[in-house]
Amino acid sequence: MPRLPPSLLQRARSISPDLATLLPACRDLESARSELRWIREHVFASASSSQQVVSPRSAETQAAEKERIHHRHERNKVAVTSLCRRRARGEPLQYLLGTQPFGPLEIQCRRGVLIPRPETESWTYALGSEVVRRLSPSSSASSATGPDGQKKDMRETQEGKRSLRIVDFCTGTGCIPLLLYTLLRRRFHLQVWGFDVEERAVRLARENLRSNVAKGLMPAASLARPSEHLSTPEKGSGSLVRFEQAEIFADDWIQSLLLLQQQQDEKNNVVDVLVSNPLTSPRKALAATRAARCGTSSRGSRWCRILGTSRRLAHPRTCSTSVSVR
Ligand SMILES: C[S@@+](CC[C@H](N)C(=O)[O-])C[C@H]1O[C@@H](n2cnc3c(N)ncnc32)[C@H](O)[C@@H]1O
Repeated sequence: MPRLPPSLLQRARSISPDLATLLPACRDLESARSELRWIREHVFASASSSQQVVSPRSAETQAAEKERIHHRHERNKVAVTSLCRRRARGEPLQYLLGTQPFGPLEIQCRRGVLIPRPETESWTYALGSEVVRRLSPSSSASSATGPDGQKKDMRETQEGKRSLRIVDFCTGTGCIPLLLYTLLRRRFHLQVWGFDVEERAVRLARENLRSNVAKGLMPAASLARPSEHLSTPEKGSGSLVRFEQAEIFADDWIQSLLLLQQQQDEKNNVVDVLVSNPLTSPRKALAATRAARCGTSSRGSRWCRILGTSRRLAHPRTCSTSVSVR
């Protein structure tokens, strides 16, 4: 990595020592300025939310109040400097601030669970549009007869919305299901599941659902009733988002999904949209492809309609209708 010119560091220092601290991690002045602004906003917002509201007619003298404000300001400055130092040591900004924006949502980030990436965010938007284009009742692509000549599944709820089941393998923070739900909920009656093998990921994804509902960024109706398995959506029941722990390559788990399909009406799929953004090694990507194929093999190619995955997984043989969103 090329060394930063001393003149740039000097310039940053002349503006603020914290800016100079951030510069090596951010590499340019503009990014360092933005990060410093976010860090300050974060520290000041956290401080003001924990601050006691003092009535102007309180017993405190004006001098004592002034001193209190001064101390709080100093404490905030120290907190900003300390976060800038952690950032300079290479700690991701999202861990320092606690969240990463993802579309209109705020995704909490924690060590050990992948921080949602901007590419994943644009890809999820593209997938949402693709789902609307192909599967909404008004779309010509979802007409009653599929390209294979078979009758298509058109479950409709009482409100006339089509019912759609979306599954996200390797969900991490839950960012993909949460954003898909947000993008599609007005058009579809949704049941969205995110699965991850890691308990801490599932816990975080559930927290992300609750915190986005609490902040008013998602409707309370998205909170799922607790259940152990994928269940068949009931007509007219509320939309749901649910996160569960699962080893997606475990035979018994895949088998339980296939069994569910056998219990379904012939025309209905257990899963309409299968998503996965595992972003890991080619070996794992290959295994995920195998798992998805396994889903298609026993009952022909109708287990899922769309496989919206990273390009590596969108193999034409994986699914009857696979979509590679680029
Ligand atoms: C790189 S993260 C991707 C997270 C998320 N999809 C995203 O785009 O931000 C991969 C996730 O896959 C999960 N994972 C890995 N192997 C798995 C398996 N066999 N079954 C279920 N989840 C798995 C990991 O725990 C991790 O949270």
